[in-house]
Amino acid sequence: MQGKTEETGIFQIKNIPENPFFLFTKWYHERQVKNIGTNVLCLSTATKDGKVSARNVVLRRLDEDGFVIMTDNRSKKVSEMRENPYAAMTFLWVQEVDGNVQVRQVRAEGTMKELPIDNWVDIYDREPLYCKIRAYVCHQGQNVEWHDLKAHHDELYGLFVEGKHKLERPDHVRSFKMDPTMIEFYETEGDQIADRLLYRKDENEWKMTRIAA
Ligand SMILES: Cc1cc2nc3c(=O)[nH]c(=O)nc-3n(C[C@H](O)[C@H](O)[C@H](O)COP(=O)(O)O)c2cc1C
Repeated sequence: MQGKTEETGIFQIKNIPENPFFLFTKWYHERQVKNIGTNVLCLSTATKDGKVSARNVVLRRLDEDGFVIMTDNRSKKVSEMRENPYAAMTFLWVQEVDGNVQVRQVRAEGTMKELPIDNWVDIYDREPLYCKIRAYVCHQGQNVEWHDLKAHHDELYGLFVEGKHKLERPDHVRSFKMDPTMIEFYETEGDQIADRLLYRKDENEWKMTRIAA
């Protein structure tokens, strides 16, 4: 006996703006914030000779023209961004919409630029207490003894509670912004072939083409 015919179709992204940041902003606002990690992106960096590394980081701010992250200046990612500022960001949002699984991916590629402190220090200031303590006690990527970390944590926490330490931004907490020259949108819903839109920035102007999934 023949089974039920499988579903199929081709998804179409509609209402395509000229500026990819308009579409990104729309998707970013439509992501289901109750799902954990929807403000997270995978940041890929590479050494000058092309050894790639990738990790998740939080999108700290969405500007009209770029994506802002915050990190430890002494980390592997920062040393890679300093020797090769070209990086890639990948966002993934999988969520249920009207009973269907909606899959959206955004990929951005471009150069990472360090932001001046006064442009973003409010982002650090809004961090929860444990993140501020982490910024002091964790030298990102270095070997550490758990008991030393715990002792340092407890000491700083005590000083903070007594009002003797304000946990202001340590110098190694820095922020970088990607200035993308490519942004690609991929979307599908249910059992359909995905649609893809590729935006490229050419002489300060965005040009969009549709590409196959
Ligand atoms: C959900 C999630 C969010 C994270 N957000 C950040 C972040 O905003 N900044 C950061 O430096 N590390 C963040 N991390 C830790 C990084 O993934 C990574 O472990 C760390 O930055 C060291 O990376 P590196 O050694 O390649 O530089 C996050 C990890 C996870 C799982």
